[in-house]
This record gives sequence, C-alpha cells and structure tokens, in this order.
Amino acid sequence: MCGIVGYVGSKQAQHVVIEGLRRLEYRGYDSAGIALVHSVDGRGAIASDKKSGKLANLDKAITESPLPESTTGIGHTRWATHGAPNDTNAHPHLGRDSRLALVHNGIIENFAELRAELEAEGHTLLSETDTEVAAHLVERELTDGVDLTVAMQRACQRLQGAFTLVAVDARDPDRVVAARRNSPLVVGLGEGENFLGSDVAAFIEHTREAMELGQDQVVTITREGVEVTGFDGSPAQGTRYHVDWDLSSAEKDGHDWFMRKEIHEQPRAVADSLLGRRGTDGLLQLDEVRLSDDDLRDIDKIIIIACGTSFYAGMVAKYAIEHWCRIPCEVELASEFRYRDPILTQSTLVVAISQSGETADTLQAIRHARLQRSKVLAICNTNGSTIPRESDAVIYTHAGPEIGVASTKGFLTQLVACYLLALYLAQVKGTRFGDEINEVMDQLDEIPAKIQAVLDAEAGIYELAAKYVGTKSVLFLGRHAGYPVALEGALKLKELAYIHAEGFAAGELKHGPIALIEEDLPVLCVVPPRGRDQLHDKMISGIQEVRARGARTICLAEEGDTAIVPYADVLITLPKVPTLLQPLVATVPLQLFACELATQMGHDVDQPRNLAKSVTVE
Ligand code: M6R
Repeated sequence: MCGIVGYVGSKQAQHVVIEGLRRLEYRGYDSAGIALVHSVDGRGAIASDKKSGKLANLDKAITESPLPESTTGIGHTRWATHGAPNDTNAHPHLGRDSRLALVHNGIIENFAELRAELEAEGHTLLSETDTEVAAHLVERELTDGVDLTVAMQRACQRLQGAFTLVAVDARDPDRVVAARRNSPLVVGLGEGENFLGSDVAAFIEHTREAMELGQDQVVTITREGVEVTGFDGSPAQGTRYHVDWDLSSAEKDGHDWFMRKEIHEQPRAVADSLLGRRGTDGLLQLDEVRLSDDDLRDIDKIIIIACGTSFYAGMVAKYAIEHWCRIPCEVELASEFRYRDPILTQSTLVVAISQSGETADTLQAIRHARLQRSKVLAICNTNGSTIPRESDAVIYTHAGPEIGVASTKGFLTQLVACYLLALYLAQVKGTRFGDEINEVMDQLDEIPAKIQAVLDAEAGIYELAAKYVGTKSVLFLGRHAGYPVALEGALKLKELAYIHAEGFAAGELKHGPIALIEEDLPVLCVVPPRGRDQLHDKMISGIQEVRARGARTICLAEEGDTAIVPYADVLITLPKVPTLLQPLVATVPLQLFACELATQMGHDVDQPRNLAKSVTVE
C-alpha cells in the first residue's frame, strides 16, 4: 500500500521521482505527489504538487506548470487509509512553516492524540490524514535546532503503529531522511547519488545495488553516502545486496498489461523455481531452509497462514503435505489466525506464504507464532522483505518481480515451493521412498512445457471471454486440489472484471449453492484427472446436476477425457498431470479468462479499483 520514492544526486530529481513512482504505482493509485528542494534568492524552499487519481494526473499538472530544477526530491503514490483520496489528503504533507515535506506509508495509530496535542499548540492541520501529523511533528523538532536526521529520530519515538516516512528539509537541500517500522523501505546505492523506495523497482533503472533496513531504523541519504541509526540515534547497519533482476523485468515487454506478461512468464518462473533443487546425491535440497533435519523431524503439526491468492496456494499445499508427509496440516487466513488463540507448540511448523513478503496480516501472524516458540518457514518471492527476514527459514520462489496487482506467476511458483516443501519433509521424515520423490520431481520438471502448451491455446480462451462481457455472475466448481483453483479463478474474476464470482467445492453444491443455478449461468468446472479415486466421476455427477438446471458448463479437463464431452458446453483441454499437480496447469486458463474479460470490459487490469498490490496495513 502506497509507493514511496526519495532521491538525492546530480540528476533532475523530478524525473527520477516520477519514473520511480511509475514503477511503484501498482502499490496504490488513489493519488500521487512530489516535493523538491530548490533555492529561492539563495534560500532553500520546498516546491510540491499533488493530485488525486492516477500518477498521470500529477504528470499532466507538472508538465503544464513545471516545478523548479532540483536534484533532491521525494514522491508518493497513495492507497488511501485516513481520509478520502482527494488533492488535500494526497502526499506530500508540509509542516506548519512549509520547511519540511513528508510522505508516508502505513498507519500511525496514535495520530488522534498527537493531532490534538499539535492543535493545542496552535498548529492548523489541513488534511484528514495521519501523515500530516507526522510532518508537523518532525518539523517541530527541526525548529528546535537539530538536523533532519535527529528530528526524524525524535519524532519516530512518539509514533505508534506501522510507518515508512521519507522527508526533506528546505534548509538542508542535500539530505533525504527516512524511517521505518513494520512497513517496507529499501535504499538504492548509486555513484554520487542514492535512492529510497518502497521496493527496488523504484530505482532499478539506476542501480541494482541495494540495502535492506531493520525495524525501527532511520536512514539518511546524501550524494556521498548512507547512514543508518536506530530511533534512539544509536549507529546501526543495513544489509547490502545485489538485485538479480533488471529494468527489462519491470517493463511490459510488448504486452498490453503486466498481468498478461506475467501469465506468459509462468513456464520460466516455474522452471526457475525448480532449478537446483536436486543434489548430486539424488536427494532433494532446499538450501534456504535454515532449520535442521532434526528440527523438521520433530514437527507434528503444520499451520499454513496466508491471504488472498497465497491462501489458495496454502490450500493446495495441505493436500500435498498430508498426502506425502502424513503430518496434520491446517490452512488459515492470516487475518483470522492470531485472534482465535491457535494452539501452537515448539513442534508446530508455521508456513507463511506471501508473494510480497510485506502483507501486514501475515507478518503479524508469524510474529504471534514465534512468540509461542513455533518455527516459522516463509515462502516468498521478494528477497529482503520483512516476512522472510523474520522467519526461521525461507524458500524463495523465483518468479521475478510481479507488478500486476492480480497475482499469477506468484501463485504458480508458490505452488511449486509448497510441493518442494512437502517432498522435502517426506524425505526427512521418511514417509516417501526416494524413487517416489524423484518421480514427482520428474513430473514437476515437465510442468513448464505443459503450461506453455496451455498458453499456446490462449486464443480459444480469449474468444470465450469475449462472449461473457457484461455477464453478471459466474460460478467456479472444483474438487480436491481443484477446489482452491476454483476459488482462485473466482477471485481473479472478481478483482479484475468486477463480476460477482464464487468458487465452490463441487460436493457442497447440493448443500446450498445449487439454488443459485439458473438458465445460462456460466459455471466453470475444474475436472480432476481420471484416477483410481472416484473424484473424476463424482465431479461429473455435479456437472450433470448444474447442467440439468440450465447452467452453461465450461469444463477444464485433461486431454483424452471423453467422459466429460457430453456434459461440457465448452471444453478446455489441459495437459495430463497427476491430480495433486493439476493446479499448476488448470489455473492458467482461468487467469487468461479473467485478464481478457476485464480487458474487453475496458477495465484497468494492472490496477483494479480499490486494490493495491501489497497490503501493508491490517
Ligand atoms: O503478497 P501476498 O502474497 O502476501 O499478498 C496476498 C494477497 O493480498 C494477494 O494474493 C491478493 O489476494 C492478490 N490481489 C490476488 O490476486
């Protein structure tokens, strides 16, 4: 939620900041703003502009009324929490004397009390935001004669909640100061210039050298260097790292949407996430797992926590873990987890799944688990983000940056990581023989080509999507590992096309949802592969039941499944894969369907209304 950029160097800060915001816009797009430090008659001054709506509105405004030249600036793209998304509430906010400009991501929980304190001192606050309170607080410290770094440290000691703050001081034009608590911020390290960003996309065009910061730290960037301290002023260190993707990964590559590009990147993303997992001894190795095999052997319960699409990856993981490892596994929404007083012990493994690694609900859930001494393993796509940093172990997915707000390659690579974890636990616990594990690994190695085969048939899905423009409601049915796929298909349609969509376990139909079936209602059915269990045949019974009541059935079934033909109004064929791995191929047509339907309906696929990519507030 919210994208933040800071820059000091020798380039025109306006350009660096606006381009940085463009790459961060997926984090929030209710309003955008910029502040630059410049000089008027030899005295420093702040020049700023901000506009409600997308970054394009701000871009237009500063093209029509250009800001002064400056090499120091900050910028913000907002996902509104406190106050409506209008010009006044947009960031940056200024202090009482307009000496300081500040941008913010997060929620300052004690803002009402601080606002009352400031107002009692005669401050007039113009907006409804918690951010303006922080701007006045930091500027109040500045007027005490200290520099911006100390002013920020002092102000942060008064703040409660989660925040990233970035500020500039008109009287100190070569310095940008930021602070973070429970909210993302990374430093970009350049030559004669330095950067701040909510994530590395903000500055990837300029440098791939980055520094991650710890909790409760203040960072000061100048042209010459970077200094990190605690909120109390004590010296601290950031951790340097090299970003292993480049500008081209952050661009659309000829596609109309990042989402479509990311869907098409899935064969490579899945292949990359599988790379290097089999050792020369034939054993599966997950080198990022910092828990010992003994620790893992002692695990007697697994709880998976996640939100949204990542939660559905967790649902698939449950099937794999219980089947291959025989360890009881629960899957829980991170936002519910700590409020139900979960039973956690030292032998519970909590698996947190998060593409961004910054989701506030998931972060708070793992903190709760660690307080109860449970071990935490993160499955994450973002190096250096908070959730993996606060976990005992991490399996990184290698999807590359996911910019479309709707998760696609993030989901498929999370599935891969879940399968790998399940197989690894099976190896450590001895619940599967080595040749069984190898057989599944061989099947996984074939998946990228199978996803490609689904993508090669995209034209058929697009034709189908075009027929459903204007449809009011769509149902999705699945069983077993196909049930989370149905939920994911419905979520994609809701978030992109704003169509009412529900996913159901097909066996539940008769217990209520079948009442929703009416003439011509589209029902997308994820048909399990034919196997020794009865899943396939039971699914066909469910499909017959909805068809008998007038539904139009769009069935996703494996090639050669002739049994489904009489019951499918539309048949989408999937490559043959085992039931547990079917989500890796069955999800792809549903992603394409939602992306195309939303496109045909004229929606902004990459930035759907009311959403933001990473939900950093609870
Ligand atoms: O970054 P995370 O994986 O923790 O994010 C979780 C959800 O917010 C995310 O999956 C969300 O549901 C997406 N918009 C789904 O497309």
